[in-house]
Amino acid sequence: MKIVTDIHELRDHLRGQNRASFVPTMGNLHEGHLSLIRIARQHGDPVIASIFVNRLQFGPNEDFDKYPRTLEEDASKLEKEGVYVLFAPTERVLYPEPQEYRVDPPKQLGDILEGEFRPGFFKGVCTVVLKLFSCVQPKVAVFGKKDYQQLMIIRQMAQQFALPVDIVAGETIRAEDGLALSSRNSFLSTEERKEAPQLQIALQNLRHEIQTLQSSSLALTPNQLMILEQKVIETLKDRGWAADYIAIRKRTNLLAPNAEDLASKEELVILTAAKLGKTRLIDNLEV
Ligand code: PAF
Repeated sequence: MKIVTDIHELRDHLRGQNRASFVPTMGNLHEGHLSLIRIARQHGDPVIASIFVNRLQFGPNEDFDKYPRTLEEDASKLEKEGVYVLFAPTERVLYPEPQEYRVDPPKQLGDILEGEFRPGFFKGVCTVVLKLFSCVQPKVAVFGKKDYQQLMIIRQMAQQFALPVDIVAGETIRAEDGLALSSRNSFLSTEERKEAPQLQIALQNLRHEIQTLQSSSLALTPNQLMILEQKVIETLKDRGWAADYIAIRKRTNLLAPNAEDLASKEELVILTAAKLGKTRLIDNLEV
């Protein structure tokens, strides 16, 4: 595996490759990322990965400096997975001057849920992903469903800009106790780590309640969903969590379903972000 830090060198290396598949990451790789690499391998050849901790997607009070940087270990994991090139640019390479042109996703998708609690997050994500696509020029790029909203926003960006890249989704990989794998899990204390799977359990219980209501003879209402969401926030609070949101949304556009949507059995997804101590975890579950 070749580790490349320079854009021109990357292009030289990938010249003539028109079936490349790509997995962009911020490093600190775990099984979740490696599963995306394996999916990438099924969709194209060669497989290119990138590691770049993107300052643009971190808010002023977020953990940019604390974000774990483990390039050596990451490179050896990627090499074992048969990755052809690891693109690991420095900030000076990717942002040699202030990145003044940015990609601003539509507010109705980019400023809700994660975008509401992390203003500018998706602008930063879209900007770097577009730039990475431009450097790598892949035919396929793989993103995890754990970042459900991110996946949807990138898909729509690729579609609206007619980017010649297919966006493929990878299922969330979980620890045995159900906790979604995330680089941020390493910030959890031993006690918090024991508690952390409760977030997914809360989503599963909520899904069960929604399904029970859906299968009853009475029509499900948006108000009932709001009460259910609130109940989960309270249950988590009693266990020591501070939830930013528990949101039952339509899978198509992540908006809250209205009565008609519920009557026509629109497909739903539950999304959450919640803090346990200082660590903010996100997860989701399709209904
Ligand atoms: O999901 C991530 O790790 C990041 O948001 C991404 C897509 C690599 C952009 O920095």
